Amino acid sequence: DYTPQPSDKFSFGLWTVGWEGVDVFGPASRPALDPVESTYKLAELGAAAVTFHDDDLLPEEATREKTLARFTQALDETGIKVEMVTTNLFSHPVFKEGGLTANDRQVRRYAVAKVLRNIDLAASLGAETFVLWGGREGAEHGASKNVPAALDRMKESLDLFCQYVVDQGYTMRFALEPKPNEPRGDILLPTIGHAIALISELEHPHLVGVNPEVGHEEMAGLNFAQGIAQALWHDKLFHVDLNGQHGPRFDQDLRFGAGNLRGAFWTVDTLLGAGSDKAYDGYLHFDYKPPRAEAVDGVWESARACMRNYLILRDKVQAFRADPEVAQALEAAQVGDIVEPTLTAGESLEDLRSASYDVVALGERSVAMEALDQLAMEHLLGVR
Ligand code: GCO
Ligand code: MN
Ligand code: MN
Ligand code: MN
Repeated sequence: DYTPQPSDKFSFGLWTVGWEGVDVFGPASRPALDPVESTYKLAELGAAAVTFHDDDLLPEEATREKTLARFTQALDETGIKVEMVTTNLFSHPVFKEGGLTANDRQVRRYAVAKVLRNIDLAASLGAETFVLWGGREGAEHGASKNVPAALDRMKESLDLFCQYVVDQGYTMRFALEPKPNEPRGDILLPTIGHAIALISELEHPHLVGVNPEVGHEEMAGLNFAQGIAQALWHDKLFHVDLNGQHGPRFDQDLRFGAGNLRGAFWTVDTLLGAGSDKAYDGYLHFDYKPPRAEAVDGVWESARACMRNYLILRDKVQAFRADPEVAQALEAAQVGDIVEPTLTAGESLEDLRSASYDVVALGERSVAMEALDQLAMEHLLGVR
């Protein structure tokens, strides 16, 4: 009946349900929610974990210890885990020109110190993943940022963080979250591919992966399922931010399943392994914004719907993969053949070059992919 269970490993950012609706055109449309109360509420709805930025849970020093005590009590009482923690390096005006890659060295040092403090907090709460989203790392003007030097500074910071967790004996891993733009005009590490390329240049590459967000890749016009499939291939899908988006426009952060529904179907299929040997087994983390028009009732309805839509799509995907007609269609489309190496072991390039190819017949062959896709469509539309 699509009721989420902790074993489904659903997780929510406290800032998602906590978003008050402040946008560039207007102030808050909803009251502030107490993040500790939200933790109880999310547990009641069936979530397994919560995540937060330092500033979501602990916005001020004066109340820090008291809030932490209330929060850990909520974790104990509900069994909710803190699976991921992240640091806000984007709201305060000090980060207006970047955090880890600001031109100003004092800002960079302050940003590193803020992250280090929060890594300690993450470790004390048992978080497995530490996300870094560089929303302000970027530029609006060509000459204003020396991009190679900014990437040097990004690498420097990541190397410092990795060495720190190694020295402290922490077991957490880092996940970089790509986004092409917003709030900066152009953000560094704009896509999954850019982030993975940077990771390969780090001192401890095995400690760093990616946290792709559905809407962010779609803002760049990219196919999310294909992007996370490549991240899985590199063993870099350390975490995921599930939400919805309607094509390349502002970051909509819709609830999961809204926006590009077919994309959501293939996203779930890919997370489940898509008939390959690479599946995702981490937390299913929702990073969305309940629309500003909603009151508090709509906030909780949208949180419930994120999980429900995932469970419905999981059902549809599993039915698609188990359908004997789909198995035949996959066969007809030669989908399985691609696992066979192009050159057989023991063969020489000469074998391949001297073979004869009926290019006319090959050019005319059926690929039968519309038939396969129509079966997926019919599963999604609920007529199979
Ligand atoms: C966005 C981003 C942010 C980050 C979050 C984690 O929607 O632009 O997803 O919400 O995920 O701040 O640091
Ligand atoms: Mn987003
Ligand atoms: Mn996100
Ligand atoms: Mn977000």
